Amino acid sequence: MNILILGSGGREHSLAWAIKQNPKCDRLIVAPGNAGIAEIAECADINILDGGSVATFAEENAIDFVIIGPEAPLALGVADRLRAAGLLVFGPSKEAALLEASKSFTKAVCDAANAPTAAYAHFKDADAARDYIRAQGAPIVVKADGLAAGKGVIVAMTENEALAAIDDMFDGSFGDAGAEVVIEEFMDGEEASFFVLCDGKTIKPVGTAQDHKRAYDGDTGPNTGGMGAYSPAPVMTDEITQKAMDEIIRPTMDEMAKRGTPFQGVLFCGLMIQNGQPRLVEYNVRFGDPECQCLMMRLGGQILDLLQACAEERLHEVKVNWADDHALSIVVAAKGYPGAYQKGTIIGGLDGIPEDSFHMVFHAGTTENEGKITATGGRVLNVTARGATLSEAHEKAYAMAQNIDWKDGFYRSDIGWRAL
Ligand code: AMP
Ligand code: GLY
Repeated sequence: MNILILGSGGREHSLAWAIKQNPKCDRLIVAPGNAGIAEIAECADINILDGGSVATFAEENAIDFVIIGPEAPLALGVADRLRAAGLLVFGPSKEAALLEASKSFTKAVCDAANAPTAAYAHFKDADAARDYIRAQGAPIVVKADGLAAGKGVIVAMTENEALAAIDDMFDGSFGDAGAEVVIEEFMDGEEASFFVLCDGKTIKPVGTAQDHKRAYDGDTGPNTGGMGAYSPAPVMTDEITQKAMDEIIRPTMDEMAKRGTPFQGVLFCGLMIQNGQPRLVEYNVRFGDPECQCLMMRLGGQILDLLQACAEERLHEVKVNWADDHALSIVVAAKGYPGAYQKGTIIGGLDGIPEDSFHMVFHAGTTENEGKITATGGRVLNVTARGATLSEAHEKAYAMAQNIDWKDGFYRSDIGWRAL
């Protein structure tokens, strides 16, 4: 089978790494890829936001299966364009990707599905939004309606913060994403991420994880795309998992099917759990990054069979095989991230780190320059390890990270603290 993965992050490196282990995989191309991915697959420089270019490339290279990693191409309808060209695709349609691309859409679907989530109101007008905030008081959560690369959510602990967020959104700080806002009740509790595959009818859980959004130790500092993750999430007991399936995920998937826009792909459910009750924080229509790196380390080569069954609408035929193990991933970022940071600095020490089915350094923002690995992004490496216990995975990952010789990078020293 010839496989094309779209994306260039640690998520796509881990997908490529796991898929490569499956004997069904003959040729593996990742577009655009990165320096780490180039060590295990071919990389192709195509514009993954342009469905036409991807379809042409796939036809020219006899691709049998396209796996779409990030949300941006999904929200633009690249999956639809590829399906129209007769290709087998993993990833939701543009209509189904609204579950991530529009917060107000998701809220309306939750209303129709009667799924527990924060109370909310939706505004296209700044004055009405301000009035609502004054009436509700703080804490309160202000969200840009559209895709804002993880930056469109302000958890305001004071009314003034919430009002300032409204000013920013309607001033265009979030581009088109902020032209409409959703204002939500603040939910307290413990967060967890729950990943399920759905083929439009059947739903199969593929793992749980918890991540660390703040930049610095002790969950302090600015919000980021995620500074580390571990899987499984201890808070996701069997009972909570069942509730999340019965009360949130299945009703949502049924509602999407009822609307004539069934969801096919991986649904990333961000949950807030309090007093044994899960509530939906948000959906994403793709794997989380760095959560995916932990899931792939635990699932290995079977992921190809699962993604293929999902795309072929025969998820009911497959079984997810679980080992009773744990994985933990540490994000190594450029100093300054999530603010301004330097690009092009050289990273050493990677050759000395073991890479096998228990240890992997997945690359996120790297490129190779004259034989040297250089940093090109904010989040640069994902040092990932698997063990029989979370503390074993934690020890292994931190031992690996110590080998990295990169004075322009940093990482948190406490990934997994809550569960450890
Ligand atoms: P989102 O992009 O919707 O996942 O929001 C980013 C983060 O903001 C979440 O992971 C939560 O930590 C926080 N958050 C979002 N909505 C709420 C809410 N209604 N109550 C409390 N925290 C929230
Ligand atoms: N780590 C959170 C995300 O991928 O959105």
